[in-house]
Amino acid sequence: MRSHYCGGINESHIDQDVTLCGWVHRRRDHGGVIFLDLRDRDGISQVVFDPDSHESFELAEKVRGEFVIQVTGRVRRRPAGTENANMATGQVEVLGKALNILNAAATPPFQLDEHIDVGEDVRLKYRFIDLRRPEMLNRLRFRSRVTSYIRNFLDRNEFMDVETPILTRATPEGARDYLVPSRTQEGSFFALPQSPQLFKQLLMVSGVDRYYQIAKCFRDEDLRADRQPEFTQIDIEASFVDEAFLMDKTESMIRELFQDVLKVALPEFPRMPYSEAMKRYGSDKPDLRIPLELIDVADLVEAVDFKVFAGPAKDPKGRVAALRVPGGNQLTRKQIDDYTKYVGIYGARGLAYIKVNELAKGAEGLQSPIVKFLGDEVALAVLERVGAEDGDLVFFGADKASVVNEALGALRIRLGHDLNMLTTEWAPLWVVDFPMFEEVGDGSLHAIHHPFTAPSCTPEELVASPETALSRAYDMVLNGTELGGGSIRIHDESMQQTVFRVLGIDEAEARAKFGFLLDALKYGCPPHGGLAFGLDRLIMLMTGATSIRDVIAFPKTQSATCLMTQAPGTVDEKQLRELHIKLRRQPSERAGGNITAEEDLMKVDEIGKS
Ligand code: AMO
Ligand code: AMP
Repeated sequence: MRSHYCGGINESHIDQDVTLCGWVHRRRDHGGVIFLDLRDRDGISQVVFDPDSHESFELAEKVRGEFVIQVTGRVRRRPAGTENANMATGQVEVLGKALNILNAAATPPFQLDEHIDVGEDVRLKYRFIDLRRPEMLNRLRFRSRVTSYIRNFLDRNEFMDVETPILTRATPEGARDYLVPSRTQEGSFFALPQSPQLFKQLLMVSGVDRYYQIAKCFRDEDLRADRQPEFTQIDIEASFVDEAFLMDKTESMIRELFQDVLKVALPEFPRMPYSEAMKRYGSDKPDLRIPLELIDVADLVEAVDFKVFAGPAKDPKGRVAALRVPGGNQLTRKQIDDYTKYVGIYGARGLAYIKVNELAKGAEGLQSPIVKFLGDEVALAVLERVGAEDGDLVFFGADKASVVNEALGALRIRLGHDLNMLTTEWAPLWVVDFPMFEEVGDGSLHAIHHPFTAPSCTPEELVASPETALSRAYDMVLNGTELGGGSIRIHDESMQQTVFRVLGIDEAEARAKFGFLLDALKYGCPPHGGLAFGLDRLIMLMTGATSIRDVIAFPKTQSATCLMTQAPGTVDEKQLRELHIKLRRQPSERAGGNITAEEDLMKVDEIGKS
């Protein structure tokens, strides 16, 4: 139907006849001449109709915004003075000879260039129109280039693309499962995969040796700006390799990808132990673009009379840390109050601070609500520890270590952005030496990565001190976002049983849930390991989008609904009966529905920002 894309017309086509198809972006009538801006996925061309070509001129008068048309005409240079340097096709225009209206369009719910003024709820409801915007289409195109590059890289490196099932059993990645009722097995349910983890390990047992898949994963968890219930992983696994191989290979993949599609040379990827990341940045995914660091001061404040500090300083699970902000004594009372509220989101019960006006004057030169509680000597010792200088402000967090880490960790990022402290555009790193387990509320242990991750110690050592055991896991972090994570896996059945036991999974449960894995480990499982990248997050970072919704064609809201298709939806009684399901309440009796789509999305972003 067409000879060229609208965006592809240029001076080399002058005096040629072309046929273009697309959407009417804009129509302008100018003294008897009609200008149509015709848009397709490649760009916009200006088409001119003059009254001499009677029939097409009359049709051109009829078209409205977003009509779908086909135009044949001759490319010519735009008259001097009417060129548009901002447009790729701005030196030329098409003198329309024939116009064919392929389809009319109702007035769209929003103008494509005025989308800023419409809520994201409207954009998501009419996503098929929203995606026509060049910015959105370009992101989809970019995403396609990235997956194509990655497939190519992995193919070149002898990784084999294998598909794994969507209808499967639960894979423990820490979120709730999406369940699918079985019609043929009454009372039984499939779980959608939280990741292809177990299947890719089984593929190693099968001798696939190097596997990859661009895989859909499903997790029913609390959503944020960087989380969706349905997302995509670049999933990788290899046999007879160690962590050095996997980290080097995938680092090369990301490095070459950035070089190829963004022309960005990423800096070195430092390798940082988890314990160091938590200590210096309060986070296992530190944003290294921001130069601020947490510094421990518990030993200095242990003996003070100020319980807020002395309590956590003496508690083995507590932490008292300082965050020095160079030039921070410019912060106003109101700003400090706002930051205090902000750390409250993370459970901090306050945000003590010392403003350093003039150190030479000793305590006299300080301004602070806590110096009187700490005493001058301790206050000055703390300032010396953090290397404070005149003009600085030092914030403090004192609480359970987890609260201090989260609160000051988030504050350092917020301050870094608010005070324009970013030192570089891209700051990648590997976080390594994760603990195997973390303690959850009731004192039981929970796998930090997943239960198939190999420990760096023997089974005996693991059983003796599970709390301090380290794992052979590694995460790739970019600009404070966890891009990907993986590990060397357990390939020995008894080690796997040991880990299950430490996690409180007894033999019967292990057999019932993971019998197939335990069997596979018995029948010749090679040493293996892998990792998975979050594709949506990768694209979000590479395109500078602020939400992963903007890089997914049809994303969901905070409450995991699709505003366009209205999924999830109710089903009729007959379908439920076939699935042997009886609802506890009828849809009409159910609570909820009192939150609007717009609020739903706003909630995501608020959490996302935090
Ligand atoms: P993990 O759970 O760390 O590891 O997931 C790997 C990567 O997937 C991305 N990701 C998400 N992206 C968007 N929305 C979500 N809800 C979401 N959850 C995770 C992150 C994360 O780093 N099977 C292991 C990998 C392995 O061990 O090989 C796994 O799934 O970028
Ligand atoms: P208070 O004695 O509670 O008024 O606290 C004195 C100062 O310590 C105030 O600036 C509080 O914001 C701060 N503060 C209180 N609790 C904490 C805490 N857990 N961590 C850090 N600062 C705190």
